[in-house]
Amino acid sequence: SIKLEIIKNEDELYTRALEIFQNELAKGSNTFGLATGGTMVPLYEKMAASDIDFSKCNSFNLDEYVGLPASHPESYVSFMKTNLFSKKPFAHSELPNGEAADPVAEAAQYEEKLRNAQLDFQLLGIGENGHIGFNEPGTPFDAPTHVVELTQSTREANARFFNSIDEVPTKAITMGISSIARAKTVLLIAVGEKKRDALHALINGEATVEVPVTALKDHQDFIVLTDLDL
Ligand code: F6R
Repeated sequence: SIKLEIIKNEDELYTRALEIFQNELAKGSNTFGLATGGTMVPLYEKMAASDIDFSKCNSFNLDEYVGLPASHPESYVSFMKTNLFSKKPFAHSELPNGEAADPVAEAAQYEEKLRNAQLDFQLLGIGENGHIGFNEPGTPFDAPTHVVELTQSTREANARFFNSIDEVPTKAITMGISSIARAKTVLLIAVGEKKRDALHALINGEATVEVPVTALKDHQDFIVLTDLDL
């Protein structure tokens, strides 16, 4: 069942998210699944300014673009270094390698690493279409980490980070929905009106592959933090 927490004030919402991380650390959790995207920027800022200590923890990111050099400022590895890892380093951090010669093999290896590590916690944002990671509508719930073709709507949503939509990569490697759902605790953060439809489908709708996040409806420990009244 979903533990819904509605906090209208954005600063308070991110303070609560930081507290959830601190509670995890206090419980002894040490393997964290992390996310990128605009939603995470204020959270990582708050972490950077706090005394939270990840130096004995491991992290695994949800996804990475295929074919974008790691040095590109919009690669997810760059995003993580800039926003979090340069300020709060983990003992060990993994992202899928978007420059791998064989992305399909890279995805399979990443899934293997995830299975060996066992995530204590997974942080998620949500796409306007209900995607989690880059699991777009129609993705089977049991898919492991895999290579995806990004939808036009997702490329358009992410074009704001690039000079033009033509520069947005067309593929990515993403944890699968099943990889995400194996995490013991999941925290989803949804901020802003654009996320209303997806969140409404999560809270009020049936589980359907058309809205990937609904796969988590019966997760044992799923917290949804939002500023939206539903
Ligand atoms: C990011 C990710 C995506 C984003 C989602 C929301 O690693 O996997 O699913 O969480 O696209 O992005 P923002 O936060 O930019 O609205």
